[in-house]
Amino acid sequence: MNDAENPTLAYKHHVLICTNLRPDGRRSCSGSGAHELLSAAKRKLARMGVSGTSRANASGCLGRCDHGPIMVIYPANLWFSCKTPQQVERILDQHLVHPDQ
Ligand code: FES
Repeated sequence: MNDAENPTLAYKHHVLICTNLRPDGRRSCSGSGAHELLSAAKRKLARMGVSGTSRANASGCLGRCDHGPIMVIYPANLWFSCKTPQQVERILDQHLVHPDQ
C-alpha cells in the first residue's frame, strides 16, 4: 500500500464549499454568502462531534457559479445549492448522520 491508498489519511466525509470570487463581477459563490456557509458547516461538524472524521473546506470554483453557493459532499458525490446556514446544517444532519436516508 502506498501513501495515496492509506485509509487512515482519508476523511469519512469531505464537505467542500466554493468560496471563489469571480473578478469580473459575474455571479460567484463568495459574493453570495459562501464564507458564512463554510463557517456554519465547520461549526456544525464540531457540534456533531465528527470533526475527526469529517472535514469542511473552502474550494475554488466548482463550475456551477450561477447556482451558488455550491456545496459538495464526498465521497457520496452529492451537490447542493445552499442559501442559508440553516440549510447547510439540515443537509449535514441528513447526509452525515443518516447517510442512507
Ligand atoms: S464561483 Fe462557485 S461554483 Fe463557480
